[in-house]
Amino acid sequence: MARILITSALPYINGIKHLGNLVGSQLPSDTYARYMRARGHEVMYICATDEHGTPAEIAAAKAGKPVAEYCAEMHEVQAELARGFRLSFDFFGRSSSQRNHQLTQHLARRLGENGLIEIVTEKQVYSKADGRFLPDRYIEGTCPNCGYEGARGDQCEECTKQLDPTDLINPRSAISGSTDLEVRETKHLFLRQSRLRDRLDEWIDSKRDWPVLTTSIAKKWLHDGDGLQDRGITRDLDWGIPVQFDGAPWEGMEGKVFYVWFDAPIEYIGATAEWADANGLDDSAWERWWRTDKGADNVRYVQFMGKDNVPFHTLSFPATLMGSNEPWKLVDYIKSFNYLNYDGGQFSTSKGRGVFMDQALEILPSDYWRWWLLSHVPENSDSEFTWENFQASINKDLADVLGNFVSRVTKFCRSKFGEVVPEGGAYGAAELAVIDEISTRLAAYQAHMEAIEIRKASAELRAIWAAGNEYLQEAAPWAAFKTDPERAAAIIRFALNLIRLYAVLSEPFIPDASATILGAMKTEARDWPDDVAAAMNILTPGHEFTVPDVLFAKITDDARAEMEQRFAGKDS
Ligand code: MF3
Ligand code: ZN
Repeated sequence: MARILITSALPYINGIKHLGNLVGSQLPSDTYARYMRARGHEVMYICATDEHGTPAEIAAAKAGKPVAEYCAEMHEVQAELARGFRLSFDFFGRSSSQRNHQLTQHLARRLGENGLIEIVTEKQVYSKADGRFLPDRYIEGTCPNCGYEGARGDQCEECTKQLDPTDLINPRSAISGSTDLEVRETKHLFLRQSRLRDRLDEWIDSKRDWPVLTTSIAKKWLHDGDGLQDRGITRDLDWGIPVQFDGAPWEGMEGKVFYVWFDAPIEYIGATAEWADANGLDDSAWERWWRTDKGADNVRYVQFMGKDNVPFHTLSFPATLMGSNEPWKLVDYIKSFNYLNYDGGQFSTSKGRGVFMDQALEILPSDYWRWWLLSHVPENSDSEFTWENFQASINKDLADVLGNFVSRVTKFCRSKFGEVVPEGGAYGAAELAVIDEISTRLAAYQAHMEAIEIRKASAELRAIWAAGNEYLQEAAPWAAFKTDPERAAAIIRFALNLIRLYAVLSEPFIPDASATILGAMKTEARDWPDDVAAAMNILTPGHEFTVPDVLFAKITDDARAEMEQRFAGKDS
């Protein structure tokens, strides 16, 4: 039995996320968390909304609301959508929580005490048209590294290079588009992360099992030389965590707040503390996940995120924790994802292009989305959502393979034997062959889940479903029933047990269908199988069940065409 801490990158607060965001962190981390729980491990699965920074201020201003109120509302909206997609967080926190304030201020103070923070008088871009300093990500221009014209002042999304706004060629305000920018002086706290280069380098070198996508980005940062530049961790903004400690300001830092990328990952810890508070537990309950001196030394910590988040999680956040010289738990494994594209282009929030989480749930149940997204998760390269592919996957994998199997078996049984597991006959060579095949595939499924190869795991799961269909086709209980009803009874008993097994194995991917099937099978037996042969005798003769309603409805061509049209975006 292991203890596994799982965090999903914190969705930014400023709007409803699209399916590309969902599949790039929350959804695969949920499947992993569900799988690990099903295997009997103790799991702490954490997410939260990332609420600070200028985008939140701007979104609130657009909505005509005070930023705190806007964030509180949007947090609820995101929490409700997370429930809709059955994301099984142990806690969904808020980076604006008191816990995060305390932890962020505490860690900054420790970094200061350890000589890792200095006050730097910085020249910062001020926009006269906007009447304010422009935060890094609100300056756009051409990337000096790759020439991409839409690079932001903090990072180029095209080549992932971390940037300073003054690096940009032809800078402009992303708020107003104004190029009337000037550089003014302002003081900020800088984290001297370059001093931690050797520790970080050694630490990343020790992570031999990390995905190439993760380590290549981290290594690029360390060895390019500029990835570990000392970075400002404060901003001239109103909304955020004030730069002060126990109510006393840090001299010279009055009116400033911590940079959103400094406090956001700390909320992984903050949200675990929020979880303890919400459950009336004391600090030891969260510390045993996060403090290696308090039990976290035997925790395995896995982070999920999109590739653009990797530099912050391989360098900046570990630098914060290491630099504190306190025994904080560092990540053991970082699973990062490529991008999901939408129908020949990108998802676009501004153009309304692609499907957003709220719209998805209005159209179809969450399992449909979960299945398509997880079986096409952009693990080894970018992947693409098309309606044709979506329709084909749902109709084939879910309706024709899994749904049809459940429906044919239960309906046939009801008509010939009633809604009870039939008795008589014995399993023979055909059943042994299926047990063999599923045992092999189950081992592969488990190995892929352990390795967090979600796409490969989904392919094995699909093959496990298909094995049942093929078996049914060959064993043909409808034919056997006419000549040898005992044989038909054995086939159906076997098939009913397969249905129960499928519900258990499918739960990490399609939890609602899994629950519906187990409900229809009227069984509490949902433990992960040790042994497939034994699992084929769990539903015994005489056990009652009911025929479930249609599990998955097919998507018609008309419905597909309509959805394709609806989500094409404003300018296409
Ligand atoms: N909000 C960030 C994004 O959407 C991710 C933050 S992950 C965190 O890219 F852990 F650092 F919070
Ligand atoms: Zn670039």
